[in-house]
Amino acid sequence: MNAEGRDRLDRMPQWQALARHREELGEVHLRDLFAADPGRAERYTVRVGDLYLDYSKNLVTDETLRLLRELAGAAGVAGLRDAMFRGERINTTEDRAVLHTALRAPRDAVVEVDGENVVPAVHAVLDRMSAFAEAVRSGKWAGHTGRPVRAVVNIGIGGSDLGPAMAYEALRAYTDRKLDVRFVSNVDGSDLHEALQGLDPAETLFVVASKTFTTIETITNATSAKDWLLSGLGAGKEAVAKHFVALSTNAEAVEAFGIDTTNMFEFWDWVGGRYSYDSAIGLSLMIAIGPDRFREMLDGFRTVDEHFRTAPPEENAPLLLGLLGIWYGSFFDAQSHAVLPYSHYLSKFTAYLQQLDMESNGKSVDRQGEPVAWQTGPVVWGTPGTNGQHAYFQLLHQGTRLVPADLIGFARPVPGLSPELAGQHDLLMANLFAQGQALAFGKTAEEVRAEGVAEEQVPHRTFRGNRPTTTILASGLTPSVLGQLVALYEHKVFVQGAVWDIDSFDQWGVELGKVLAKRVEPALTEGAEVEGLDASTAALVARYRDLRGR
Ligand code: F6P
Repeated sequence: MNAEGRDRLDRMPQWQALARHREELGEVHLRDLFAADPGRAERYTVRVGDLYLDYSKNLVTDETLRLLRELAGAAGVAGLRDAMFRGERINTTEDRAVLHTALRAPRDAVVEVDGENVVPAVHAVLDRMSAFAEAVRSGKWAGHTGRPVRAVVNIGIGGSDLGPAMAYEALRAYTDRKLDVRFVSNVDGSDLHEALQGLDPAETLFVVASKTFTTIETITNATSAKDWLLSGLGAGKEAVAKHFVALSTNAEAVEAFGIDTTNMFEFWDWVGGRYSYDSAIGLSLMIAIGPDRFREMLDGFRTVDEHFRTAPPEENAPLLLGLLGIWYGSFFDAQSHAVLPYSHYLSKFTAYLQQLDMESNGKSVDRQGEPVAWQTGPVVWGTPGTNGQHAYFQLLHQGTRLVPADLIGFARPVPGLSPELAGQHDLLMANLFAQGQALAFGKTAEEVRAEGVAEEQVPHRTFRGNRPTTTILASGLTPSVLGQLVALYEHKVFVQGAVWDIDSFDQWGVELGKVLAKRVEPALTEGAEVEGLDASTAALVARYRDLRGR
């Protein structure tokens, strides 16, 4: 029993009941589950907003689902969820509230942190962002030489890059095509070098996105961008004001960098980096799609927030997805989870989810600091489905590992495609449906033989099937639907962290590498003696300097 009166997860009777249930299920096959229950395809579905989830191709029965929900009940998921929405400091290791849901709260909502309603401040920033985005889009915002902005370069990394970059790609069909929006994240100078190709400093706006405004990659790139701008314009520091804006929680550091804080759009420490693209961090996206569509996206987020907060457990989509992941991770030894969007516009979606999920739930001690005795977050991976089919799907179908997957697709192509290209959409979606079917039901040896295949070839052409997928289908990839999808995964990650009893909102695991990089750098640049370098790293540094000609 821990300080919160909660049993260790693996000692809970509900966990043990699941373990027994797993043994009873044995090698059950999806073919048998479907054969035994003609209503399964209809019953194992849930709707949230515009999303339709079919989870019938998962290795679960009514009993599995009941036991998983009981586990969530015993683990206190609903209580922690309500505490999050109330603004309690559930990020205990950083002593912070976790309130990304307040970023999409309606104007008249009241969400308090330390007795103060944060919603008015959220809307004040949204209003300022809207006015600024409109000014840029309409050409009213002029650069130092009086010319309008034609290119926006977002400089940020992690949550200050992946979210806006993913959403920009996802909503490209809704963007103003006259504006060239680019994203720079890597401290590798070639990233900025490529992003600046063909840009005219007089028409370029840099959006420096960093919650802390101390992240070395971002500050280094922003400094180089400032040099490029000033030398390109042949101007002094006064030109910065018209070409640089900052998105941050740290006004002091923004000012120290040389950006006027009147050109800063703020957010707050209760917004985690990986949960931040619907805050000021979304400014580049808002400039691209316009404030109205940005707000439509926020409405989409809110729809799923409300669902997560109020839907009963049987119909609660994030709860369900979270529990399915726990089921596979701990009772089927699944190591990873694939997210496979059948939409080219979602090409960055899985990369975005990698940070959301793996930075949140890649933990191995519980909230009390005790080592956990169960699996936590999976390796999340994937690329747009059809491309994946011709790369790694072989392993999904016939490999030795179980890889549960989400297949995401849309009934309608995005607006703006020619009739011919829109006509390809059915073929795209036929692939999604075919893959779900093949993964679940496979192809038996008998079926292969019936095709006249030579006996020695039969094992190679047999598909065992029984590979679980959840299909997420929506009418179209609109700003609102994107918000719904992201919130669905945000809350799925929340559910898993709550059951695993870990702090899903800190990220201490990325600190050590940052500290060591700072320590090692002088060894590379000046050949300085660096204390505490292990023998392998010291030898690598020496070889690097040699190759570099130093
Ligand atoms: O990778 C660690 C991290 O702190 C992420 O959580 C965050 O999204 C990213 O760095 C960028 O941080 P910042 O927005 O403060 O520059």
